[in-house]
Amino acid sequence: MTKTVLITGASSGIGLEFVKLFANDGYNLVVIARNEEKLLEIKKSYPHNNITVISKDLSRSNAIKEIVDEMKAHDIVVDVLINNAGFGLLGSFEDLSIEKQLEMIQLNISSLTELTYQLLPDLKKSKSGKILNVASTAAFQPGPNMAVYYATKAFVLSFSEALAEELRPYSITVTTLCPGATKTNFSSVAKVENTKMFSNAMSSEVVAKQGFDSLMQGKRVVITGGLNKIGALAAKFLPRRTAAKVAKLVMKEN
Ligand SMILES: NC(=O)c1ccc[n+]([C@@H]2O[C@H](COP(=O)([O-])OP(=O)(O)OC[C@H]3O[C@@H](n4cnc5c(N)ncnc54)[C@H](OP(=O)(O)O)[C@@H]3O)[C@@H](O)[C@H]2O)c1
Repeated sequence: MTKTVLITGASSGIGLEFVKLFANDGYNLVVIARNEEKLLEIKKSYPHNNITVISKDLSRSNAIKEIVDEMKAHDIVVDVLINNAGFGLLGSFEDLSIEKQLEMIQLNISSLTELTYQLLPDLKKSKSGKILNVASTAAFQPGPNMAVYYATKAFVLSFSEALAEELRPYSITVTTLCPGATKTNFSSVAKVENTKMFSNAMSSEVVAKQGFDSLMQGKRVVITGGLNKIGALAAKFLPRRTAAKVAKLVMKEN
């Protein structure tokens, strides 16, 4: 039977690259983001795949319930869940709007958690349930001037690794993708285009392919790019205070 993948943040960047990989592999897709026009373009580009478009703002607290209800109404059962939607913002905690930062927590943490919870019964039924959560290299240390963003990604990594262990008896794998700077709309939304970190960003195509391959192999954590792997390893051994100072330097404008 044809398998179904649900991808959040499917309209651009890493999510869009995931769409291409799964569509070319013959999956049915449920694509979710706010930009309905872009999602409908995706549907048009893959006439041989069964694609369900759900245009939804995942920073609204009732969004997941509405998505689950819509999928139930159409008898859609998900085998693979890709929790990819997310955004960041550069600026001190005090200067950034509290509304925007709470929206970030709702999108990056609460929606990801609730969607995973609601789809678990489906994933257990599937003989090969798989989850991929997109965290970031930001997950490995505190991030001054992006404090809430880094903290949301630390949540994603910790949550996903714990869930991977809980779900092992059910043969459901949970993979956490930790990209470093990647060329997508993220940098303009987060206003980090001119930072040292983004002076050498990877392509979203390469990042998604590494995520896709790791998901298929059931790997737990994948950090994209050699330098990012070294950075994440260094963060493990440095005192947290020093790691925070390094992160602050890396997020400085050029
Ligand atoms: N690019 C990087 O350097 C980088 C590094 C590490 C981790 N990441 C993570 O990678 C993931 C994907 O980001 P990206 O780099 O591909 O950036 P992107 O090109 O900006 O893509 C973000 C995706 O999330 C969707 N999205 C944003 N806000 C949403 C909302 N409120 N409701 C529903 N969908 C929403 C966007 O679609 P709409 O605008 O149509 O809603 C878009 O499809 C994020 O979780 C990000 O934190 C990115």
